[in-house]
Amino acid sequence: MVLNDKVIAVTGGARGLGYAMALRLGKQGARMALLDMSAEALDQAVSQLSAEGVDAQAFVVNVAEEASVTQAFADIAQRMGPVSGCVNNAGITQDALLVKAKEGQVEKRMSLEAWQNVINVNLTGVFLCGREAATQMIEAGHEGVIVNISSISRAGNRGKVTTQPLKRACMR
Ligand SMILES: NC(=O)c1ccc[n+]([C@@H]2O[C@H](COP(=O)([O-])OP(=O)(O)OC[C@H]3O[C@@H](n4cnc5c(N)ncnc54)[C@H](O)[C@@H]3O)[C@@H](O)[C@H]2O)c1
Repeated sequence: MVLNDKVIAVTGGARGLGYAMALRLGKQGARMALLDMSAEALDQAVSQLSAEGVDAQAFVVNVAEEASVTQAFADIAQRMGPVSGCVNNAGITQDALLVKAKEGQVEKRMSLEAWQNVINVNLTGVFLCGREAATQMIEAGHEGVIVNISSISRAGNRGKVTTQPLKRACMR
C-alpha cells in the first residue's frame, strides 16, 4: 500500500511500540493519528514526531470505552479525514496466576477486576477501534488495513492468565 497522505491511527501511540510504529509509518508519508490516554504524553509524542518531519495529531481516548472511541474516530475523520489504517496496539498486562498455591494451600486468587481490566482494553478495545476504522474505510469507499498487535507469548505463558491468549483470540 502506498502510504503517502494516508491517515493511519495508532492506539497507544504516545510511547513504546506504538510511537515507534507511528514514526516509521509517518516517515513513509502517512499522516499519523496518535490515540492514547494522556493528553500530556500525546502532546510530547506529537512534538517529537513533528521534529522528525512527521505529520501527526493527538487524540485522547480510552479504547475500552465505546463513547470515547466513537468520539475519537469522529474527531480523526473531521480533522484529518477517514482512516486508511488502524494499528490496535494499546494493551495492558496485569500478570497473575489464576490461583497461587503452595504445598496444597491456596495463597492468592486472581481478582475479577484484574481479569476485566485486561479484557476491556486488550479485547473490547480492539473490537471498538477496529469497528470504527472499518466503518470509515467502507463509508469512504477506499481500501484499508487493520493490524492487531499481539505477542510471541500468544500460545500462553506461565503466570499470564489473561493478556496474550485474549489478544490471540481477538486476532482470529
Ligand atoms: N514491549 C514488549 O516487549 C511487548 C511484547 C509483547 C507484546 N507487546 C504488546 O505490544 C503493545 C505495545 O507494547 P509497549 O511495550 O509499547 O506498551 P507500553 O505500555 O509502553 O505502551 C502502551 C500504550 O498504550 C496506552 N494505553 C493503555 N491502555 C489504554 C487505553 N485503555 N486506551 C488508550 N491507550 C491505552 C498506554 O498509555 C501506553 O502509551 C501492547 O499491546 C503489548 O501488550 C509488547
